[in-house]
Amino acid sequence: MHSNIFLTFSALVASVTGAVLNPRNAYPQPPHDSSRLVYQFANGTTIENIAIRSNGNLLVTLTDRPELYEVNPFVPKTAKLVHHFPGYLGLVGITEVSPDVFTLNAGNFSATTGPTEGSWAVWQVAFHKDQPKVSKVVDIPEALSLNGMTTLASSPNTILAADSTAGVVYSVNTRTGSYKVVLDDETFKPAADAELPIGINGIRYLDHYVYYTNSFKAFFGRVRVNKSGYAAGSYETVATGIVGDDFAVTPQVAYIAGNPTNVVTKLDLATGESKVIAGNLNSSLVAGDTSVALGRTWKDKHVLYVVTVGGSLSPVNGTFSEGGKIVALDI
Ligand SMILES: *[C@@H]1O[C@H](CO)[C@@H](O)[C@H](O)[C@H]1NC(C)=O
Ligand SMILES: *[C@@H]1O[C@H](CO)[C@@H](O)[C@H](O)[C@H]1NC(C)=O
Ligand SMILES: *[C@@H]1O[C@H](CO)[C@@H](O)[C@H](O)[C@H]1NC(C)=O
Ligand SMILES: *[C@@H]1O[C@H](CO)[C@@H](O)[C@H](O)[C@H]1NC(C)=O
Ligand SMILES: *[C@@H]1O[C@H](CO)[C@@H](O)[C@H](O)[C@H]1NC(C)=O
Repeated sequence: MHSNIFLTFSALVASVTGAVLNPRNAYPQPPHDSSRLVYQFANGTTIENIAIRSNGNLLVTLTDRPELYEVNPFVPKTAKLVHHFPGYLGLVGITEVSPDVFTLNAGNFSATTGPTEGSWAVWQVAFHKDQPKVSKVVDIPEALSLNGMTTLASSPNTILAADSTAGVVYSVNTRTGSYKVVLDDETFKPAADAELPIGINGIRYLDHYVYYTNSFKAFFGRVRVNKSGYAAGSYETVATGIVGDDFAVTPQVAYIAGNPTNVVTKLDLATGESKVIAGNLNSSLVAGDTSVALGRTWKDKHVLYVVTVGGSLSPVNGTFSEGGKIVALDI
């Protein structure tokens, strides 16, 4: 089984944050009293990201194999394979670019060789009456390590994709396939002491701002952008000290997946104050959480869906690992 840079990164941060050995008792330990396991994959499966269809179904990308799955959170226990993307080792960021049309980043990365330059592409999955139509949008041969993806809502058919290693953000027109670097800043670059060349990781657009994490720098920032996605203001620090992977953002708060720290953090965007709302370093409740998304239907609009890698290379307490899972938190 191949492993990937995101997991290795987790292992490194875990060693820094000091998870220690103690086998067995890896029970969920919620500071969060209302959580539900929606679906768990087999041991060895690592979920990287999540997007939600308007019908409420969850779409999750995997990094241990190049597969996209769909899970109905109201009728859990099964996951439907939407598509296997041959020729890639894994899938990362995913976003809804237009109603029921999703794009995702596919490419190659491994624990031993890191990300492969020249392997990255943006693909599209369009649902038509539940029949997915899958097509390539464009190869981005210059990309070093694509990761988070978001929809640039101000511009039709346009997504933004973060390159974690180059520390830049591309805009991609999913109709024409044209792409260009629109954002480039020091806060996107991998930390000088980062064991792996991973800088900007999660990225979300909301109300004229692009929000982002730089995981090794434990940095959460934002920048105002114009309609084409170029910076239209200064790069602002919203919070530091939060190890962040992907996240969800509302006008008031961000919910940040903490991967190797095994927590979900709620960050107040106005004050920069944060608090852990689920998990802890020694808990398997959301062990290795890589991303989150808010429910989209009336039934689950107060639910935060959390996806995980199950601590596979960054075991809870140094020993416990499990298959990647989807956990629903009432918020
Ligand atoms: C991790 O180890 C600590 C200290 O031994 C223990 O208190 C805690 O219950 C363990 N947590 C899990 C999830 O095993
Ligand atoms: C990804 O790696 C696999 C296995 O090494 C290789 O067969 C494939 O061509 C690579 N894909 C790309 C897009 O580089
Ligand atoms: C956005 O800013 C870029 C760079 O300053 C500029 O070239 C572009 O025309 C602007 N786009 C819009 C829609 O204002
Ligand atoms: C995790 O467990 C270790 C000992 O096993 C302990 O030193 C540490 O304080 C615990 N951390 C949390 C957040 O519970
Ligand atoms: C999952 O696999 C890892 C690595 O092989 C192993 O250490 C761990 O015990 C397994 N966990 C479960 C729940 O089977």
